[in-house]
Amino acid sequence: MPRGPTITAPPNPCAAMIIAIDGPAASGKGTLGKRLAAHFGLRHLDTGLIYRAVAKALLDAGHPLEDRAHALAAARQLDPACLDDRLKSHAIGEAASVVSAIPELRAALVAFQRDFASAAPGAVLDGRDIGTMICPNAEVKLFVTATPQARARRRTLELAARGAPADEATILADIIRRDERDMNRAAAPLKPAADAHLLDTTHLDIDAAFRAAVDIVEAARAR
Ligand code: C5P
Repeated sequence: MPRGPTITAPPNPCAAMIIAIDGPAASGKGTLGKRLAAHFGLRHLDTGLIYRAVAKALLDAGHPLEDRAHALAAARQLDPACLDDRLKSHAIGEAASVVSAIPELRAALVAFQRDFASAAPGAVLDGRDIGTMICPNAEVKLFVTATPQARARRRTLELAARGAPADEATILADIIRRDERDMNRAAAPLKPAADAHLLDTTHLDIDAAFRAAVDIVEAARAR
C-alpha cells in the first residue's frame, strides 16, 4: 500500500502550552477539549471539523469522497470561520472518516493545525493524530476512550437533543465501522501516543471525566 507524504515534527512546535486530546468518535474528547481550554485559558480547535468541512464540500459538489484533487482544493479554500457545529451531523462525520484517509489531504492540513496550536497562549486540540503527528511535543497528551456501546448511547442522545433522532443500533454499527477505518488507515491512524495518558470515560459522566482530565493535566504540568 502506498504511504502518504511524510509529516515531520516541526523543530519547536510547542513554545506555547499545548494539550493534545485524541480518541475515537463520541468518546467525550470534544466536550473535554472545550472545557479544558476554558479552564486553563487556552484556545480550542476541534480538528474533526476540518475534515468534516472538506467532506461537506465534496458532498455538496457531488464529488466522490476519495477524490484527492477536489479534496485538496477544498482544503485550500477552507474558511476557519465556517468550522462550526453545523458540520456535526452523523452523515458528515461518516464522510469525514473516508476523506481523512487521503494522505495528501492530511499533509496539506498540518500547517493550519500547528499554527493554531503554537500561537500564544497555547491551545487544546482534539482529534485522532494530535499527540502522534500534529503536536508530538505537546505538554500533555490525553487519549480518551469509552466502549462502543457507551459511545453509541451518548451519540444517540446528543443527536436526539439536536432534533435529529437516530436509531441506536445503527449508530453503534457506524461507530464500530468508523473505529475500524480510523484505526487501520495507512495515514496517521488513530492510536494513543506512547506518552499519552489514557482516560476511559465509559463509567464517567462529563463532570467526572473533566475532573479526571484536569488532574492529569495538573500532574503533568507539575512534573
Ligand atoms: O472527531 P470527529 O468525529 O468530528 O471526526 C470526524 C472524522 O474525521 C473522524 O472519524 C476521523 O476519520 C477524521 N479525523 C481525523 N483526524 C483528526 C480529526 C478527525 O482523521 N485529527
